[in-house]
Amino acid sequence: MRLILLGPPGAGKGTQAQRIVEKHGIPQLSTGDMLRAAVTAGTDVGKRAKAVMDAGKLVSDEIVIAIVSERIDAPDCANGFILDGFPRTLVQADATEAMLSGKGLDLSAVVEIRVDDDILADRIAGRYTCGNCGAGYHDENLKPKVEGVCDKCGSTHFKRRPDDNRETVRTRLQAYYKETSPLIGYYHCKGKLHSVDGMGEIDAVTAEIEAILARA
Ligand code: AP5
Repeated sequence: MRLILLGPPGAGKGTQAQRIVEKHGIPQLSTGDMLRAAVTAGTDVGKRAKAVMDAGKLVSDEIVIAIVSERIDAPDCANGFILDGFPRTLVQADATEAMLSGKGLDLSAVVEIRVDDDILADRIAGRYTCGNCGAGYHDENLKPKVEGVCDKCGSTHFKRRPDDNRETVRTRLQAYYKETSPLIGYYHCKGKLHSVDGMGEIDAVTAEIEAILARA
């Protein structure tokens, strides 16, 4: 299964991707996570990406296409993968087509998670992740079962992203509507697009996505 999760910042792409990983055993390829890892490691790519990400703008197509192109050749992608946060521009979408068709592969589905703009800032401002295993949480919507302890790995170390603030969310949303939302029409025309209501409970969104995957 080769799946794209599409949606504005805070829509729930990462949250749902983690659940698909657990159920289907295919890796989550998050360009945001890969870029943050490059920033932490201090690589050339990380140095070029950091200021752009902190400002909520998009990193260059050239950089992210190169990262994904290399990643999908890894052995753990042989049975499929979830693209989370990629493609994000029409140039990246065309590159995805070329990457897959060059390997004789096709997309199974593109799932758009729809969420009203006014709740995205709350979701993003309340988000944090386990510093050890990356499990995602939220101050109000998704707390660990035991306060301060990760459900998945037991770590007590959590972190928040530098771009998760209300000012940057506005720039990220603008980038989404300008650069990424045209992909909705792009994949609709290809007969690949499925939309789910991302305003519901996390479990309800998962159920909608699973129903789509069962038919894909
Ligand atoms: P990236 O890391 O991809 O961030 P994003 O797209 O802005 O998406 P988020 O991770 O913020 O949101 P999400 O949809 O995953 O939401 P989540 O599940 O965490 O990109 C960061 C930056 O990297 C970009 O700004 C750009 O600079 C760069 N970049 C990355 N990819 C790029 C590319 N392809 N091209 C160029 N630049 C690129 O959920 C959010 C919170 O809400 C969580 O706390 C969660 O618990 C909660 N939540 C989730 N679902 C629900 C629900 N149904 N109900 C209630 N709460 C919920």
